[in-house]
Amino acid sequence: MSYGLGVDLGTTFTAAAVARDGRVEMATLGDHTDAVPSVVLIRADGTVLTGEAAERRAAAEPDRVARSVKRRFGDPVPVILGGTSYTAAALMAHQLRAVADLVSGREGGRPAMVTLTYPANWGPYKRKLFAQVPGLAGLGEVRMLTEPEAAAAHYARSAHLDPGALVAVYDLGGGTFDATVLRTAERGFDILGRPQGIEGLGGVDFDEAVFTHVDRALDGAVSRLDPADPRATSAAIRLRRECVTAKETLSADTETTIAVLLPGLQTEVRLTRGEFEKMIRPAIDATIASLRQALHSARIDPRQLHTVLLVGGSSRIPMVAHLVSAELGRPTSVDTHPKHAIALGAAAAGAETARAAAAAAAAVVPVSLTPPPAGKAGPAGTSAPAPPAAPAASAAALAPTLAPAPALAASGGNRHRSLRPRRLLLVSALLIAALAGGGTAATRALSNTTQPPTHPTTPATSHPPTHSHPTAHTAIHPSTTTPTHNATSGTNGGSGTTARILQAIRFTSSPPSLAVVGGT
Ligand SMILES: Nc1ncnc2c1ncn2[C@@H]1O[C@H](COP(=O)(O)OP(=O)(O)OP(=O)(O)O)[C@@H](O)[C@H]1O
Ligand SMILES: [Mg+2]
Repeated sequence: MSYGLGVDLGTTFTAAAVARDGRVEMATLGDHTDAVPSVVLIRADGTVLTGEAAERRAAAEPDRVARSVKRRFGDPVPVILGGTSYTAAALMAHQLRAVADLVSGREGGRPAMVTLTYPANWGPYKRKLFAQVPGLAGLGEVRMLTEPEAAAAHYARSAHLDPGALVAVYDLGGGTFDATVLRTAERGFDILGRPQGIEGLGGVDFDEAVFTHVDRALDGAVSRLDPADPRATSAAIRLRRECVTAKETLSADTETTIAVLLPGLQTEVRLTRGEFEKMIRPAIDATIASLRQALHSARIDPRQLHTVLLVGGSSRIPMVAHLVSAELGRPTSVDTHPKHAIALGAAAAGAETARAAAAAAAAVVPVSLTPPPAGKAGPAGTSAPAPPAAPAASAAALAPTLAPAPALAASGGNRHRSLRPRRLLLVSALLIAALAGGGTAATRALSNTTQPPTHPTTPATSHPPTHSHPTAHTAIHPSTTTPTHNATSGTNGGSGTTARILQAIRFTSSPPSLAVVGGT
């Protein structure tokens, strides 16, 4: 049966959701978790590991692992893995391919539509580069949707939003912060003003702050570890995992302890929620200032907002909802799984587009169903009576489809030529849909990329936060970090011996497990 796939390639985690028959649910990408780490590892023989498999092998082959690649997107300097250069686009394509293959295998066929999300504050250059990722992944047409539009679409499925209602999306993920103002449109949402973001601010920076706190509590014992000692490396790996767990624990508890097992030192360090909040307070204040900038750019007063949607895993930190709500004087809405909102919304929005396209196509069938010349029907089934090769229902087949990846495709022949009649049908249908008032969704589906937001000519003005910043010893002061270009350097590498030991070893909270997902 036909289904749509929504994919959120995050800086730290990748998530996907499947839409079918009006229902949308997360795809389980890991052995025990829905989302998997956004990690790619390319072995010496060219085998590509992603997600949990890459994470598990990362410690053994640190110079072959790439993390936080999304932060490097658009950087002309390639990532070096095992002495070979890779673009960020190529590495993200491996992640996308792995997700599409995994879900297709489980669902018994390729999705009828893939919707891929990207940050709303990316400019034309990054958007153009990102548009190449599906092709590099061996996928066919993929619909692009901004992350806040996807999050808002997910929200709109469970909450009533009047036409013209305004929402702000506050997305604090693992690697970046994004703030966007949206207004409900006839179909979907319109982005107002200029979305804002802080590229070098996210959960990994909070992990780093906890790690530094532990090191300081131990008078620099972690920094003094010998980077050449494999036992030290393993200890640092463990400690970093403990720090991530501690950070996440403090979203539910008011204090926690971090077990420290270093060569020659076994102890634990206590961390309270108050201490942690002090560390990250300047960063959270900066995100709120960024959100205010987005509102200013959209010429929207916070009082006009229906709600502020809190998405991204780091939005689970209780202080985030508290401060955003207090600062803006508006209610916030945080999903049980704020990480999932974007993938779920992408899948839902994709399905909606497919439905709209199908409905519009039905209206033009009598004039458009000219059979292609004999023998010209391609693998996607352009001849009207022939069922499509992909498991797409007839309605969804009219929407942009995901062609089989080259390795899987049985196509051959001239795919572009064979697809042309269907493409014309789609174009006609969507133009009619646009004329009938379905402009937003129709236009996006047609262009295969989300329309860039209309930016007002007035430049955005910064509204500094009104709070004073009680700066803790390890407080994070957000800045736009310059990405490092070697796989052995993290983007938030810290400094000194600690950073050298840990430079390639960014850990996540996911339990590791094995799943080889592809090869080059
Ligand atoms: N309960 C929690 N408390 C605090 N942080 C959490 C919690 N759960 C997850 N996180 C953090 O959320 C981050 C991952 O969030 P998410 O998956 O939304 O980011 P991403 O999409 O990969 O990154 P980005 O949106 O920046 O590209 C990680 O840093 C993780 O530690
Ligand atoms: Mg994200």
